[in-house]
Amino acid sequence: MWRSGKLALVLSALLLDATAAVSAPWNYNFHAHELEKVPLRELQLGAINFLHTTDTHGWLGSHPVQKDYDADWGQFVSFVDQFKEHRLNEDQDLLVIDTGDKHDGNGLSDATEPNGIASIPIFNEMNYDLLTLGNHELYYEDRVILEYYSTAQSEKFKNKYVCSNVNFINDEGEEVTFGNKYVYLETPKNKFRVLALSFIFNYQMRNTRAKVTKPTLELEKPWFHEMLKHYNNTNIDLLIVFGHLPATDLDYQEINQLHDSLRHHFGHNLTIQYFGGHSHIRDFVSLDKRATCLQSGRFAETVGFLSIINLTTDKPIFSRRYIDFNKKSFSHHANVTESNLQTLKGEKVSNSINQLTVELSLNKQYGTVKENYFMFARPIESPNNIYNLIKNKILPSLQQDSNSDDPNYHYVIVNTGAIRFDLFQGPYTRATEFSVLPFNNTWKYIKLPLWISRQIENYLNQERIIATLSPPGITKLLKMQSDRPLECPFIKLPLLSEGYVTLDDFGCDGDDTLHNSQLIYPIPNVLQYNNIPHDFNDDDTTMVDFVFFSFLQADILAVIERIQIELGEDKETKRYTANDCLNYDAKSLQLLLREYIISDQL
Ligand SMILES: *[C@@H]1O[C@H](CO)[C@@H](O)[C@H](O)[C@H]1NC(C)=O
Ligand SMILES: *[C@@H]1O[C@H](CO)[C@@H](O)[C@H](O)[C@H]1NC(C)=O
Ligand SMILES: *[C@@H]1O[C@H](CO)[C@@H](O)[C@H](O)[C@H]1NC(C)=O
Ligand SMILES: *[C@@H]1O[C@H](CO)[C@@H](O)[C@H](O)[C@H]1NC(C)=O
Ligand SMILES: *[C@@H]1O[C@H](CO)[C@@H](O)[C@H](O)[C@H]1NC(C)=O
Ligand SMILES: [Zn+2]
Ligand SMILES: [Zn+2]
Repeated sequence: MWRSGKLALVLSALLLDATAAVSAPWNYNFHAHELEKVPLRELQLGAINFLHTTDTHGWLGSHPVQKDYDADWGQFVSFVDQFKEHRLNEDQDLLVIDTGDKHDGNGLSDATEPNGIASIPIFNEMNYDLLTLGNHELYYEDRVILEYYSTAQSEKFKNKYVCSNVNFINDEGEEVTFGNKYVYLETPKNKFRVLALSFIFNYQMRNTRAKVTKPTLELEKPWFHEMLKHYNNTNIDLLIVFGHLPATDLDYQEINQLHDSLRHHFGHNLTIQYFGGHSHIRDFVSLDKRATCLQSGRFAETVGFLSIINLTTDKPIFSRRYIDFNKKSFSHHANVTESNLQTLKGEKVSNSINQLTVELSLNKQYGTVKENYFMFARPIESPNNIYNLIKNKILPSLQQDSNSDDPNYHYVIVNTGAIRFDLFQGPYTRATEFSVLPFNNTWKYIKLPLWISRQIENYLNQERIIATLSPPGITKLLKMQSDRPLECPFIKLPLLSEGYVTLDDFGCDGDDTLHNSQLIYPIPNVLQYNNIPHDFNDDDTTMVDFVFFSFLQADILAVIERIQIELGEDKETKRYTANDCLNYDAKSLQLLLREYIISDQL
């Protein structure tokens, strides 16, 4: 999977003798016995500094079985306050930013109805200077309403919440701005004049309470041109564009199109700082001499740091760092001891998280996971790959509850994106279940000719436009891995934990913590199991039950139509519609996985 020229290098990095002195690529010279006190890479503070989170997806309660991410939201709140107090000089400003996706991924958000009703107030304890929404805030009407009233319109954030290209549809059916189209502010210390805009990618959903406009089209609207009469390159020092779009967008280049438009309107001399999200990776892109974009990972594993060391010069210097979301990194960068990290306010936030965890019974243990199962850090053929487990151990156990008189042959198909997190060795709790399988998919089925059913998996896996069926970010991670330059070899040192060894436009020294490289392996869009006997004699009229996740309905119908057009000339054709998609009465994937873990105890 690496270019062959790189292989020798990869191997030499993997084979590094742990007792040998290691220099490249860390710019540190240390011996193995010193690794435990390997210094964290420092933050380089500037005139203006930023801390950034994105795609937290409800992960407010730390990562119980992962020491590298052992800080909770209370400790994060403490970190930011301690950082302000102990690290910032009189001439250094700080802005704290979030770029959305606060649902789906953790029981703290997902075990309540409506989703997020208890987690959003905890999230909002962070004193964000700028915040916005992601696509997960727009999935259902109840979430849109919650986001609008609890956050966008709240006393605390009503002057900080920005959605340039999303409107809210109010109770009267009128379209109103979701928070602010833009915010103008002056930084407290340097009095930098800052204009902030925020865009989500062109996410088109069926939702009666919100409307998204493609970013570049939004810039054609009157409000934007009215704004330019007041705020433009003659009277601002910095344009901040934060939002729920990826820093690297290999498929649509939305951020690049947006950047071209903004350069057209603001000229080439203005510094523009972007903060991105959605694809769940650590990333940093240099868009031009005066514009960069930082993206800060996912799931409260990362706090992104960015500084512009001298903003109002011809050649501003940018510096970025990905901080591991743990107490060690937080206390180090705030320059306090670990025991002094927590503030009174942070303590309160931590307490309310613990209380919520108890109220929602998230620590309720169902069983014990015997080994680690990774999404893409192990090849899909590996027994330690979670998709391998789902395909070979879990999907075969699916059975229709009723209708048992009719021993139908069936196919069952799920999208890999439905699995959101690695399954780690240790207690299997209600919280684990929410983090691995956060979506409330139901099973549906269509009675379908076998010859069509046989093709669907291939079609779904080959279809490029249906990339959203797989977990976010994987395409970019694979590309980064295969393009890894000589200066940035993979790292394998037994004393370091496996983790992020990020490669971005500034090189491979962005992570604050040294880790072993976690290699990434490709995964398909969908996984399938079927119980058709190998020697089955198909005469084109055989019908089977084609079972699928409700999320896949539109894609399955589209693919069936294509298969009929491309392969069905000589066959009788029926047009399949939503009316043919029936409920399949069977245990949820969550329950099937839970039962497997419990049965695997002996
Ligand atoms: C830029 O803003 C200034 C100050 O508000 C205003 O006087 C000027 O007309 C604006 N320029 C444009 C091209 O709108
Ligand atoms: C942009 O900066 C360059 C270099 O300082 C300067 O020569 C040029 O006049 C500036 N352009 C504008 C439009 O301000
Ligand atoms: C900006 O800061 C960098 C790093 O401190 C320095 O090397 C550079 O000269 C500065 N540029 C200007 C124009 O002040
Ligand atoms: C950390 O604090 C100590 C004093 O407690 C101070 O001497 C040192 O300069 C500080 N370090 C940073 C990076 O601010
Ligand atoms: C999932 O739950 C939401 C409410 O939180 C509901 O609106 C939606 O219909 C459910 N989806 C499925 C597939 O059951
Ligand atoms: Zn996300
Ligand atoms: Zn997203």
